[in-house]
Amino acid sequence: MIPQTTNQGFVMTEAGTPGVAYGLRGVTVDDTRICKIIGEEGRLYYYGYNILELAERCTYEEVVWLLLHGKLPNKTELAQITKDLKDARGLPFGVRDVIKSAPKTSIPMDVLRTAASALALTDPAPNDNSPEGIVRKAIRLIAQFPEIVAMDYRLRRGEEPVAPNPELDHAANFLYMLHGKAPGKDAARTMDVALVLHAEHSFNASTFTARVIAATLSDMYSAITGAIGALKGPLHGGANEGVIMTLLEIREPANIKPWLEKKFQDKGFRLMGFGHAVYKTLDPRAIVLKKYSKKTGEERGTTKWYEMSDQIEGIMKGREKPLYPNVDFYSASTYYMMGLPPEIYTPIFAVSRVVGWCAHVIEQQAHNKLIRPAANYIGEVDKPFVPMDQR
Ligand code: ACO
Repeated sequence: MIPQTTNQGFVMTEAGTPGVAYGLRGVTVDDTRICKIIGEEGRLYYYGYNILELAERCTYEEVVWLLLHGKLPNKTELAQITKDLKDARGLPFGVRDVIKSAPKTSIPMDVLRTAASALALTDPAPNDNSPEGIVRKAIRLIAQFPEIVAMDYRLRRGEEPVAPNPELDHAANFLYMLHGKAPGKDAARTMDVALVLHAEHSFNASTFTARVIAATLSDMYSAITGAIGALKGPLHGGANEGVIMTLLEIREPANIKPWLEKKFQDKGFRLMGFGHAVYKTLDPRAIVLKKYSKKTGEERGTTKWYEMSDQIEGIMKGREKPLYPNVDFYSASTYYMMGLPPEIYTPIFAVSRVVGWCAHVIEQQAHNKLIRPAANYIGEVDKPFVPMDQR
């Protein structure tokens, strides 16, 4: 029986066996306790806690504990994770050398991917997959990602890297290392909220990549390095950079409509920051980031990029087939107003998401099954071999 296949998702053949699920849509591959998304209703939970509440009431450090341990930290545990993350700061010389030696033509996501891999070479026990070993590696990666991104950022601008500030928490220290001065309270909180919102998102492309690697019982560094490669793509985390490039290209509110009309004449056109494989309505993270885009714009004296984003959202929602903003849409104008350049938006995403990836590596290896899907072979078989001189 030939399977009925479709590129819209999972189908059954007439015989009742599974057909091809292009892009694995609709296929459930494992159990998880980490994250729940209700795509039709635009709801997202980390270990059962609603993202809207976490964004309003938690710090990134609390979310790190939640994702690594499955429960919100009490005061002692929060003090412990805050200390552990600070203690794990300080890039090894080997990794600093890797960053310094990157050609100026390289892009920041490639430097982050290479530096993440190099972290394994400076870890005395990179392949320790014991419960303690795996959490230690997770904390090391989470602590050092901001330093990698900030060091690369400053070197590209011809500036000296800035050492971490032990007085500052994760988000504030990240901004401090980027800009070379301690951020104001509002900027630190905006970055903290952005990190909370991007920390985890179930079996998305980069997380699934991490789980596939983890499922071979490979090490945490390999899984995270692979995940960075997946996040880089413009259909995944790379979209936030695409959003700001779009806004800068449109330039003025008056250009929005003609720009969109012209672009949508091309059937294959994808507007960055819109649509989602799981959400069929507004992404809850976009609701929060929209507020921060407006607030940050007001603080910086121009809400132009926020307003343009809002207008684009309105047009896209009003189309025959409505499309809604995803997490990348309003993070772009928020970061831009914070004085951050487009090329580090996807690395900032990774600075946050690394904790989600680590949580999934831990969960995968705790109840492991090698991930090995089947393929629908559409070529021929038993072809007569053709000797070289007859080809
Ligand atoms: N712009 C224009 N059309 C779109 C967009 C978009 N951003 N997103 C979806 N569509 C259209 C498709 O063309 C398709 O139309 P059709 O049915 O007429 O062919 C329909 O909506 C459904 O699209 P699919 O490709 O089936 O949706 P899918 O779930 O595969 O795509 C994806 C999800 C890849 C995120 C898509 O919406 C997209 O390309 N968005 C732009 C890139 C982006 O913002 N990515 C970030 C996602 S969030 C994240 O990864 C962190």
